[in-house]
Amino acid sequence: MNELEAQFRIEELSNQLHEHNHRYYVLNAPLISDQQFDFLLRELEQLENQFPQFKNPFSPTQRVGGDITDKFEKVQHKSAMLSLSNSYNKEEIQEWASRAIALAGKEIEFVMELKYDGVAIALWYEKGKLIRALTRGDGQVGEDVVQNAKTIKAIPISLSGHFPNEFEIRGEIFMPKSVFLKLNEERAEAGEERYANPRNTCAGTLKQQDSATVAKRNLDCYLYFVLAENSQSTLHSERVQEAAQWGFKVPDARMRMIETSKTVDGIIDFISYWDIHRTELPFEIDGIVIKVNDTQLWDELGMTAKSPRWAIAYKFKAESVSTQLEKITYQVGRTGAITPVANLAPVFLAGTTVKRASLHNADQIEKLDIREGDFVWVEKGGEIIPKVTGVDLSKPRSHSSSHNYITHCPECQTLLVRNEGEVLHYCPNELNCPPQVLGKIEHFISRKAMNIDGLGTETVAGLLAQRMIQDAGDLYTLRYEELLGLEFNVGSDDDIKRRSLQQKSVENLILGIENSKQVPFERILFALGIRHVGETVAKKIAKALKNIEECKNATFEQLLTIDEVGEIIADSFVHWFKQEKNIVFLQKLIDAQCQMSIDESAHALHSNALSGLSIVVSGTFETFTRDGIKEFIEKNGGKVSGSISSKTSFVVAGADMGPAKLKKAEDLKITILSEHDLRSVVG
Ligand code: IVH
Repeated sequence: MNELEAQFRIEELSNQLHEHNHRYYVLNAPLISDQQFDFLLRELEQLENQFPQFKNPFSPTQRVGGDITDKFEKVQHKSAMLSLSNSYNKEEIQEWASRAIALAGKEIEFVMELKYDGVAIALWYEKGKLIRALTRGDGQVGEDVVQNAKTIKAIPISLSGHFPNEFEIRGEIFMPKSVFLKLNEERAEAGEERYANPRNTCAGTLKQQDSATVAKRNLDCYLYFVLAENSQSTLHSERVQEAAQWGFKVPDARMRMIETSKTVDGIIDFISYWDIHRTELPFEIDGIVIKVNDTQLWDELGMTAKSPRWAIAYKFKAESVSTQLEKITYQVGRTGAITPVANLAPVFLAGTTVKRASLHNADQIEKLDIREGDFVWVEKGGEIIPKVTGVDLSKPRSHSSSHNYITHCPECQTLLVRNEGEVLHYCPNELNCPPQVLGKIEHFISRKAMNIDGLGTETVAGLLAQRMIQDAGDLYTLRYEELLGLEFNVGSDDDIKRRSLQQKSVENLILGIENSKQVPFERILFALGIRHVGETVAKKIAKALKNIEECKNATFEQLLTIDEVGEIIADSFVHWFKQEKNIVFLQKLIDAQCQMSIDESAHALHSNALSGLSIVVSGTFETFTRDGIKEFIEKNGGKVSGSISSKTSFVVAGADMGPAKLKKAEDLKITILSEHDLRSVVG
């Protein structure tokens, strides 16, 4: 293919892919299969790599992310991003509507929309291309997260139809419930703490420095506000429809996600409908927004201190009920963290029967003066786990005295500790406290650690209960005959069933354990579950110390010289290897012939050509994948750094390096090399 043909094909593919993306993610009406889509995308990727001169920042290939941003640019909003006044009852909505009608001096049409529970975003387009995506910030100045926004498939990178040359549109980015639940499953599996709710997780995701991470999170976005000067129409509802023509995802009137009404009854009806049906939506909403449809009235209606009078939010009450608190019990997490649990007289709340709720921590119980026997308010907000929010004072108080928080671990009777500045109590008996022992084994076998298939929590608990194992090292001496028919419990407290291991499961399990002996040393180091030693740090330490003997002998000072290892990590590492029980555990892994030293051939340096250099890579490359170029630099003795600073030796720039980075490199007078330059430097 010659240059001209390539240019033509790239443009053709880009247009097709934008269109298919729009059909899939916005209209929910795909024309081609996922596989066909991937096929076209791959063709485009290949052509862009082959002819990087035709790759542009608005290409559909940008959706996969990969650009690293070290700092988001602060940008002044064209007009302030306001908030809405909230109201929690229908009378206030009635009053608001009457005031608007009185001010207008005539009948008014209202528009009702969902109040998406996410993060507000202001998108700027120029000539139909997305150039900025600003967060709300303080309302005046926001942060530009455009690289991350481009990975959100519901946000068009390139528009179609008759859009204004330059305009701004605002909306809400959110994390669908299913994505949130799946993400939390994965975190739990990896022994990481669960995220609290979709909204905060979405906000955190948008601030990720690596846009490839954002791409994997499957965020979504609805638009609800086209700025005035950009529209043909004076009606808000028509402006929203107009935006749909340009490619934006807007609420679907057929699903009643947006509706107009000239009466307050109509508004109330919409609110009541969604108060019941909101749990059926694939994303969370926290209320309904009501707007005056005629935008010519907006100026006349004016503003209160922070919010316009032409719109108001009706917020759903978090559903709450009162029930009797029968008993306070305590749960010990895998890290030893203690959580108090309210055991309740069963009560129906937001679709399910609730018997247990979180009491958070000791301070909370004391502050609310919650006592066993009290009637308490139980609430289900956005969070999945219900919580106790206070004592129901309309009921008689319990006769018991103020609650005494436990001083000893309910599982192993060790004296609890509470560290300065922390809210939770911990059981320090890491090595013998049953739930902590179980937690450690679960971490050891998890996917990112030893990845032992066929072994679930219940089986591990069964093996522990029957004293067939004491730590993860004992897994390696388990025999087929002793596992076959092994009985264990499944289900939770109220609904326990007995199961026994069948031939197929036992075979899987033995195979999983056998395969794990090939897992490389750096992952074993992570699997040990040393506090504060995550995946990346384990890799760095493994590379530096090379084998388990060196790890045992490593001193605090020596550890501090390793990249990314600070005092907390070094301290925790040394402490771990001082425990006799851990040394016994390690010996079991050694005996099982697990990989207790690094595979030198996989890590050996090819040269020292880049030794002592700190190198930043940016953009995409023709002859390297992103990980590939990092590995190339490291294998030749260089260090890859995420952000440009005065310490940067040079930047290797691929196609479409971000403009902010380029400017920074230029400002600091840092040399910029191509991937080919890099190869010649190494020789
Ligand atoms: S209109 C002048 N419509 O709620 C305000 N906002 O406190 C223009 N929100 O920051 C906003 N769904 O993030 C509007 N359908 C909707 C909304 C919505 C959610 C958020 C938005 C805003 C906050 C208001």
